[in-house]
Amino acid sequence: MCGIVGYVGKNAAQDFLISGLKRLEYRGYDSAGIVTLSENGDATLLRAKGKIANLEDKLSNNKRNDKIGIGHTRWATHGEPSEANAHPHQAGKIFLVHNGIIENYKELKEHLTEHEFKSQTDTEVLAALVNSFYKDGKYPLVNAVVQALKLTKGTYGIAVVTTDNPNEIVVARSGSPLVIGVGHGETMLASDAAALVGHTKQAIYLNDGEVAVITRDNVVIKTLNAEPVSAKVEEIETNLAAIQKGGYEHFLLKEIMEQPESLAETLRGRINEKEGTVRLGGPGLSQEQLRKVKHLVIVGCGTAYHAGLMAGYYIEQFTPEITVESVIASEYRYKNAYIPKDSVALIVSQSGETADTLACLREIKKQGIPTIGIVNAIGSTIAREVDGGTYVHVGPEISVASTKAFTSQVVAMVMFGLTIAQAKGARSGILKPYIDELIKLPAAIRETLDEASEAVRKIAQKYASLEHAIYLGRDTAYPAAMEGALKLKEISYVDANAYAFGELKHGPLALVDERFFEVALLPKGELFDKAISNLQEVLARGGQVIAITNVRDFEMPVRDVIVIKDTIKHFAPLLMNLVMQLIAYYVTVAKGYDVDQPRNLAKSVTVE
Ligand code: F6R
Repeated sequence: MCGIVGYVGKNAAQDFLISGLKRLEYRGYDSAGIVTLSENGDATLLRAKGKIANLEDKLSNNKRNDKIGIGHTRWATHGEPSEANAHPHQAGKIFLVHNGIIENYKELKEHLTEHEFKSQTDTEVLAALVNSFYKDGKYPLVNAVVQALKLTKGTYGIAVVTTDNPNEIVVARSGSPLVIGVGHGETMLASDAAALVGHTKQAIYLNDGEVAVITRDNVVIKTLNAEPVSAKVEEIETNLAAIQKGGYEHFLLKEIMEQPESLAETLRGRINEKEGTVRLGGPGLSQEQLRKVKHLVIVGCGTAYHAGLMAGYYIEQFTPEITVESVIASEYRYKNAYIPKDSVALIVSQSGETADTLACLREIKKQGIPTIGIVNAIGSTIAREVDGGTYVHVGPEISVASTKAFTSQVVAMVMFGLTIAQAKGARSGILKPYIDELIKLPAAIRETLDEASEAVRKIAQKYASLEHAIYLGRDTAYPAAMEGALKLKEISYVDANAYAFGELKHGPLALVDERFFEVALLPKGELFDKAISNLQEVLARGGQVIAITNVRDFEMPVRDVIVIKDTIKHFAPLLMNLVMQLIAYYVTVAKGYDVDQPRNLAKSVTVE
C-alpha cells in the first residue's frame, strides 16, 4: 500500500527519495510526490498522478541540492488518484505524508475552518490539524504533531517537516510501519526497510504510540505521553540482490523460480533428519503446553488464508485429536468468536502488517490464547506482537502476488503441527512419511519447475483469450485450487473461482461452456477416482480442461495435461500449485498486463 520515505543528511535528498520510492513501487500506488527544503527553508513540492516516472519528468526541471525531504507513494482511499490528492500535503509551513486512514477526519475537518482544503484526502485534514497547533512556529513541530495525533482516530505512519526548520523530520506511527535508517551523517526513513537497503544496515523500528525527531546525526524517540524511549538499533538482513530482478523479466517469475531455495531456508535447522523429528525454537511453547493443545485457529487474508486452510487439512490428517479452524481475518475480527482455552492461534502474514490480521491477533491475545506468528517480514508489527513465532525466511517478496510465501507458510504450519503431534506422542510411523517428504520437497520443487515451465508457457497462450476459469480440487488440493484461482484472477483479471469437486453438481456445473476453461487438480490418492468421476461431468458438458496430475499414465480426454513427478505424495498439491503459479504468470504475460503490479492491488494491506 502507500509508501513513505524521508531523508536528512549530507547528500541530495531528492536522489534518495526517488530511489526509495522506486523500491516501494511494488507495494502498489497510483500517485507519488516529494518535498525537499533548502537551507533557507524554501520548499520544492513535486507531485504526479500515476507512475514514479511521471514524477521524475517533473523533477528534471526542478533539480535541487536540498539535504532534507520526505516522499510518498499513494494508494487511493479517500479521493481519486490525482495530483491534488497526492502527498505531501501542505498546510501553512508544514508538509506531511501519511500512510493509514484517519477515521474521524470529517469531524476534525469541521473545526479547521481557517485552512483552505485543496484535496479530498484525510491526510490534508491531519496536516491542517498539525498546523493549527503549530501556530506559525510558536510551538515546536513535534509538540504540534503530538497534540494533533491525540485527537486523531485511526491508523497512521506519518512524516512531517516545516520550512521553519530544514534540519528535522518528525515521524510517528500507530498501526502503520515506519523504520528509521541510521547512517553516517545522514538519517533515513521508510515505511519498508527495502527502501533503506544499500544505504545502511542499521535500523530503528518505531513502535505504535511513538513519535521521533530525526536529524542528520540523531534520533530522539518519545511516546505520545512524552515518556522517553531508548532506541533499539537492529540489523537489516535484506541484501540488494534479494530486491532486484536478477535477470528475470518479472519479480513474479523470479519468486516462483526461487522456491527451491526459499523453502530450503524455511526448513533449515528445523528438521532432524537422523531422528526424523521437527524442532521449532520460535513458538516458545513447552512440551507440556504443546501436549495440551486441542484446537488450532489459523488466521490470515488472501493467500495466507489459503495457506492456513491447506495446512489445516494436513495437521488434521496426522494429528486427529486436534481440530483446526482456518479463518479469514477480516471476518473473524468482528465475529466475537469464543476460542476454547486449550487453543493456540497461528497468525499468518507475509508482510506482518496486514491490518485485519493484526486486529485479530490483538483480539485473540485479549482472550489469553497463545499466539504464534507465521510471518516473513522480519521485525514487522505482527512478528513483534505475537507471543512466539516461526519466520518463514523466504526473503523479500516484491511482486504483489504472493507465491514463495504461500509454499513456505504451508510448510511452516505443517512443521508446527508436527511438533504438536510429536509432543502428543504420535507414532513415528504416522509422522515420518510427512517429514521425509518435507526433506525432499525443495528438490521436487526444482524438478517440477524445470519440467513444467515450458509446457505451461505454451498451454497458457492457448487459454489467454478466455475470460473465465474454474479451478477444481478435493481435500488438500481444494485449498490449492483456491490459491490457483486467486493467483490467476489477481494478475490476469480472468474471472477465476475455485470449487471443491464434490460441489460441482450443487451449482457451478451450470457455468461450464465455451467461455470457460477448467483447471483440475488430480493428485493420486484415495479421492482420485471420485475426482475423476466429477471431472467426467465437466468433460461431458464440453469443458475445456487443463489437468494437473501426478498419475503417469493419465488417460482422460482432457484438452491439456501437465504431469508432474509422483515422488511426493502428501504434498503433491504444493507442487501442483507451482504449475498454477506458472499458468497465472504466462496467461498474464500473454495478455500483456503488468505482472508485478496488478491494477487496484497493494502488496501490504495496512488499512481495513
Ligand atoms: C495474493 C496476495 C494477498 C495476500 C494478503 C495477505 O497473492 O498476495 O492475498 O496474501 O493480502 O497478505 P499478508 O500475507 O502480507 O498478510
